[in-house]
Amino acid sequence: MDTNVEASARTVMERCEILGGYSEEPGMLTRRFGTQPMRQVNERVAAWMHDAGMTARRDNAGNLVGRYEASSAGARTLLLGSHLDTVRDAGKYDGPLGVLTALACVQLLHDRQERLPFAIEVFAFADEEGLRFHSSYLGSKAVAGTFDPATLRLADSEGITLAEAMRAFGGNPDLLHASKRDGSDLLGYLEVHIEQGPVLESLNLPLGVVSSIAGQSRISVYFSGEAGHAGTVPMSLRRDALCAAAEFVLAVETLGRSLPGLVATVGQITAQPGASNVIPGMVTLSLDVRHQEDAVREQACRQLQEQASSIGAARRVSASWQPLQPNRMVPCSPRLTQLLARAIEAAQYPVYSLPSGAGHDAAALSDLTEIAMLFVRCKSGISHNPAESVELEDVAAAIEVLEQFLLLLAKE
Ligand code: GLV
Ligand code: MN
Ligand code: MN
Repeated sequence: MDTNVEASARTVMERCEILGGYSEEPGMLTRRFGTQPMRQVNERVAAWMHDAGMTARRDNAGNLVGRYEASSAGARTLLLGSHLDTVRDAGKYDGPLGVLTALACVQLLHDRQERLPFAIEVFAFADEEGLRFHSSYLGSKAVAGTFDPATLRLADSEGITLAEAMRAFGGNPDLLHASKRDGSDLLGYLEVHIEQGPVLESLNLPLGVVSSIAGQSRISVYFSGEAGHAGTVPMSLRRDALCAAAEFVLAVETLGRSLPGLVATVGQITAQPGASNVIPGMVTLSLDVRHQEDAVREQACRQLQEQASSIGAARRVSASWQPLQPNRMVPCSPRLTQLLARAIEAAQYPVYSLPSGAGHDAAALSDLTEIAMLFVRCKSGISHNPAESVELEDVAAAIEVLEQFLLLLAKE
């Protein structure tokens, strides 16, 4: 392996460690939209962008954007990148790996004082996971021009709205239209990402080409019963919202297991008022439903909504349902994907294509330009977990392939 590429992969690994140190919570990695650690990682990454010969700016949505100019004025632009926010108690690679491998390639160009016949913009998106506002692809939707302004009214667990958080972060929710990237000069968007599943490892492959990104529905479900005294209200007279929610959680699991390819998850649940001697009167839970076919996902959501109502009715608990941004399945661009496959061959790795069950900023950017994605092998398929891990050699392979991709695109 080229020693420059190996050194560059080492830098990417070190930088993933560094960014992994910026967290809101002691002892674990949690970095939500608009928080102090997000500000700090943006500052670190902006400094690395400058080192790589790029200009860096932050847009109104809080995304960080680096630009490396082309060999001539008026050239077109290739977008690269991923996100810098994380889930709760996250791994270090989901998101940052895509930003930092992109930066590594630009740094290699800069070190060789080389310009390409197209400019490169590296996007470090402000919120892909949706941890704070339960809304995915927030940063990339602003760039794609598909951001729903109603999202600005969503509140976090402390009652702070997205609009307020955006302002406090130095953005401007009234000027989000200015964050929309003009698509007319774009060559496409390519995202490198950890696979977050076990397929590549099971096949002993360092890299994979993504064929499509699964659609996802995120829904807030509310069960409203009646709070009461845990010692005095007989079991037969209770309207326990948490018991209704518990039945619903198992219905979600049963449906998810019943259809091939369907995954359905309740990941967050709050019971109020939340005391050991009070019957829970109100429960809010998050529901995440995904499938590679939109029709199957939509039918599953309808079925679960009916089940929530009937479970509630049998317990005299009312159930309500608030869909948050359904995202359709997105196929990757055949043209860019073929080019990526050629780049993998040129770097002498086997080409293997697989769909993504996880969501990615690329899905949102598909409304703006053609997209492609390169997956990097993930240790034991573990992700959204601090044990998430990638190998140095696989990161080097991803950088090599990205470099080949840039070369091939330059020859087109
Ligand atoms: C993002 O990681 C998602 O798929 O939810
Ligand atoms: Mn993630
Ligand atoms: Mn991710």
